[in-house]
Amino acid sequence: MPTGDNTDHYGQVSRALHWGMALLILWQFLSAGAHFLLGDTAIEEFFWASHKPLGFLLFILVVIRALWAMMNTARRPPSINLAAKTGHIALYLLLAVVPGLALLRQYGSGKSFEPLGIPIFSGFEGEEIGWMVAPGDWLHSWLGWLLLATILGHIVMVYWHRKSAVHTDVLPRMWR
Ligand code: HEM
Ligand code: HEM
Repeated sequence: MPTGDNTDHYGQVSRALHWGMALLILWQFLSAGAHFLLGDTAIEEFFWASHKPLGFLLFILVVIRALWAMMNTARRPPSINLAAKTGHIALYLLLAVVPGLALLRQYGSGKSFEPLGIPIFSGFEGEEIGWMVAPGDWLHSWLGWLLLATILGHIVMVYWHRKSAVHTDVLPRMWR
């Protein structure tokens, strides 16, 4: 299996990013689900502890993944249609915007942010910065759930293409 992509298959790096991030995103939605459904319970406390650090890690990973995708655009398996291409771009945008808005809100709140003890923002005294906080307050949760719906749609489409007699089975491009 080559490191880079080719027009038949995604290579090792793309696969590691795809499946590694899929597992981390699953965990991220367990913490979001626990926050939504099981507030103030030991289960929520357990899962929620990782929400901000893991969200930050996912933000870094999606930037690396987008750069890797751009470097490999010309040699990756071509999109099977415009809907697939649009869906993949939507996944990238949501994967960047959802944690991006939360991080902007975190900075604007003036509170320090030290995921896993790594100092990212030291925080500041005084009023929070309204324009940095408001978009996250309005949109982080909603867009987060929209991301989950888009991922579920992505999985359904992969299954549908695999089962359909007239469509290309795309699973072997990413998983063998
Ligand atoms: C890909 C990364 C992320 C995903 C998919 C995600 C998803 C979500 C979802 C779906 C909720 C709603 C939970 C509910 O309805 O109770 C939520 C809430 C929250 N998230 Fe995230 N999140 C991510 C990254 C982050 C990051 C990086 C931070 C902070 C640095 C953060 C901070 C919060 C906070 C404080 C809440 C509760 C307040 C609110 O509803 O906005 N999240 N997240
Ligand atoms: C958190 C979950 C997931 C996300 C965010 C995600 C995202 C993506 C993205 C953005 C692509 C385009 C290629 C790339 O740039 O990496 C892709 C391709 C693909 N994904 Fe996923 N994926 C997820 C889960 C899954 C699962 C569970 C399956 C298996 C059913 C799957 C199967 C595939 C396949 C087969 C492709 C290649 C499609 C093609 O070349 O047309 N993905 N995925």
